[in-house]
Amino acid sequence: MSIRVMTIFGTRPEAVKMAPLVQALNSRAGIEGLCCVTAQHREMLDSVLDIFGLKPDYDLNIMEPRQTLSSITSKCLLGMESVLEDAKPDLVLVHGDTSTTFAGALAAFYRQIPVGHVEAGLRTYDRYSPFPEEMNRSLVGRIAALHFCPTPANRDNLTREGIREGLFVTGNTVIDALKTTVRPDFRFSTPLLNQLDYEKQRIILVTCHRRENYGAPIAQIMTALRRLADTHPAAALVYPVHLSPVVREAAGRYLANHPRIHLIDPLDVAEMHNLMARCSFVMTDSGGLQEEAPALGKPVLVLRRETERPEAVAAGTVKLAGVEEEAVFRMGAELLEDPAAYAAMAHAANPYGDGQACRRIVDAIAWHFGLSPQPPAPFA
Ligand code: UD1
Ligand code: UDP
Repeated sequence: MSIRVMTIFGTRPEAVKMAPLVQALNSRAGIEGLCCVTAQHREMLDSVLDIFGLKPDYDLNIMEPRQTLSSITSKCLLGMESVLEDAKPDLVLVHGDTSTTFAGALAAFYRQIPVGHVEAGLRTYDRYSPFPEEMNRSLVGRIAALHFCPTPANRDNLTREGIREGLFVTGNTVIDALKTTVRPDFRFSTPLLNQLDYEKQRIILVTCHRRENYGAPIAQIMTALRRLADTHPAAALVYPVHLSPVVREAAGRYLANHPRIHLIDPLDVAEMHNLMARCSFVMTDSGGLQEEAPALGKPVLVLRRETERPEAVAAGTVKLAGVEEEAVFRMGAELLEDPAAYAAMAHAANPYGDGQACRRIVDAIAWHFGLSPQPPAPFA
């Protein structure tokens, strides 16, 4: 008799971070892996499924243009009902902090199916930043029976909140994913990325998509980015623009028609990871990029007021740039102009994992269900 473990995810970052776990579950004796995607994202999800060769067992296909938080949550919740009825998993795994994460965990709870939370315990303790992710992640922390915390600090957050059982420090599965994608001889299929001169030019990789940055913050960030390109002829910005219409409108308005600002479509994850490995530094409000770039030795300026990922800030590879034009411009200019400031940040740091997170999570699940005599040693 195998235990049935269902992974549920729906957006690009969840897919990148769950893909190696789906593979690890499928290859463990005694575990039957099942995969359900909500398709909260469609194209950006399918791209990740393709790269990792994943074929979901269930696909709720919920995405609509300019979807609201209520629409995502209610469609996921309703859709999951029949999936869980049909599949009858012994454990549901959700990832991180999206609306899919919250609705997937709640749907499992309503059927009294235990939930494992992958990437548990990250916190800003500001309920509106990141919004709505901070609340999603906290609520799933209350629902989950098993908490797979990337770092000891994430576990400590949960302990302080009164959660004492089912805690495992595993590292972040994104580092497992990164180990499969980055290659020195990688050839891009996006022609621009093969044409760039990564030695002579300072290539700045940019992404920006967070809901709390919509409006004035995104305008200030993008104005700062354009000033950086205007004032630094050796710099070129590569910005794969998220498919959200709100983000695409802002990028088009502030950053289009500049010879050294390349607005391109979202990259597949292998292209993205290899571009990150070759760029000079990263400016982003993404959660995943804050974890990936330090592992590749790339400085990151975070385009947010705060971060639930303080470990790489402490390690010195990440700085909070905020969302004010002047500060974003100044910090970008410093990395372009001051080799010592750049060198101080450009060292590889791996506070988020060692590439063994998926093995630890599968080992922890096996131990929880009595398939293995001991829990995994924690990631330190
Ligand atoms: C979601 C997550 C956020 C995560 C981000 C990763 C929530 C509340 N937010 O935000 O935590 O950081 O994904 O990218 O869960 N779209 C497409 N095709 C796609 C994907 C998106 O057209 O493949 C467009 C659609 O118009 C969609 C919009 O983007 O309505 C926004 O997508 P949504 O998932 O609602 O929000 P994100 O900002 O992507
Ligand atoms: N990513 C990608 N292509 C892109 C932009 C990002 O493959 O054009 C990857 C990135 O490397 C990381 C994940 O998507 O693994 C992060 O997703 P995103 O920034 O959308 O969400 P967040 O991490 O902020 O929730």
